[in-house]
Amino acid sequence: MNNFKKILVTGGYGFIGSALIRKLLINTKADIFNLDKFGLVSDDQSVLNIVEQNKVFRNRYNFFKVDICEFKLLKSIIEDIKPDLIFHLAAESHVDRSINNPSQFVQSNIVGTYNLIEITRNYLSKRNIDYFKLLHISTDEVFGSLGDLGKFSESTPYDPKSPYSATKASSDHLVRAWRNTYNLPFIVTNCSNNFGEWQFPEKLIPLSIQKIINGEKIPIYGNGLQIRDWLYVEDHVDALLTISEKGKINEDYCIGGNCEIKNIELIKKISDTINQNSNYKHSFANTIKYVEDRPGHDTRYAIDFTKIKKEIGWEPSQKFTLALGKTVEWYLNNQDWSKRVLQKANYGTQRIGLLD
Ligand SMILES: NC(=O)c1ccc[n+]([C@@H]2O[C@H](COP(=O)([O-])OP(=O)(O)OC[C@H]3O[C@@H](n4cnc5c(N)ncnc54)[C@H](O)[C@@H]3O)[C@@H](O)[C@H]2O)c1
Repeated sequence: MNNFKKILVTGGYGFIGSALIRKLLINTKADIFNLDKFGLVSDDQSVLNIVEQNKVFRNRYNFFKVDICEFKLLKSIIEDIKPDLIFHLAAESHVDRSINNPSQFVQSNIVGTYNLIEITRNYLSKRNIDYFKLLHISTDEVFGSLGDLGKFSESTPYDPKSPYSATKASSDHLVRAWRNTYNLPFIVTNCSNNFGEWQFPEKLIPLSIQKIINGEKIPIYGNGLQIRDWLYVEDHVDALLTISEKGKINEDYCIGGNCEIKNIELIKKISDTINQNSNYKHSFANTIKYVEDRPGHDTRYAIDFTKIKKEIGWEPSQKFTLALGKTVEWYLNNQDWSKRVLQKANYGTQRIGLLD
């Protein structure tokens, strides 16, 4: 990582981007540039908490409030910064919101990615940085839905099923086409579902915790038997750092947690953890309610991460139950934060993503 002097992160006030910035501040000496439009679910405390504690971090950390859909502004910022490593995470990321408002997803995820790679192409044509890399951070949802058997890998054909995954798939195709046509040092990563601290309480794990704290029922979409492959966010960030260091350009890497769990079982684990460790005592059976399924809901995701393990030596290091326990505890202890971000987003944990 020491080659890199100026690291640009897009989407650094989101859940994964902020975890990445915290790790980059601690594990590198590089200047860090965070480009984020500071959207509905963004939060700056997730980064500023550690920046403000340390003078060296303060000197190395820079934030630009910018929408990556604004081509001219983005271009001038990138040409000013002159990054030698880019992690591209800025995207609209919630499937339910993509059902109600797909156009925002087309803009940020497709147009925004086009802007970034086209500007990067232009920028690299004027300078010769032989170690430059751009990592485009994507999702396993681009592969569609699995049956009972098998896992997604780098060779799985794309088959996105939601507006979110379709826009992420489009952005992956753009990145690969640009690297192939213009010979650019780009890497695409496809990761399974992340969980951890500082995640906006609209996604399954923090939403379920919040519902229990609020004394409300947790909505179980459909039969609750959908399977996701969960990865602790710190493990994802470690994978990204490892790829930036040892990953081969022009390659793709699938990142997964080797941790398949049915949604209903996951919520039961969360409920048990809260019952054991807090005063929010409740009966699981009375805390869940089965509701209409998400339109086009994918049944199962699972990642085969043999390639990244064999080629560059990364595999998940965190035990799921421990990491989930830490996460639940963090939300129990940070209710002020949850209330503040929910209020900022004007979101009351209500159901979204149903057809009219
Ligand atoms: N959360 C997961 O489980 C998961 C798994 C695999 C891949 N990913 C991918 O990782 C990336 C980050 O996910 P996340 O969970 O941190 O998402 P997030 O929604 O928490 O954060 C995304 C951030 O991007 C910013 N952003 C969105 N559109 C922008 C734009 N047009 N210009 C500038 N900033 C913009 C938002 O303001 C936000 O701060 C996304 O690309 C997502 O597709 C997420």
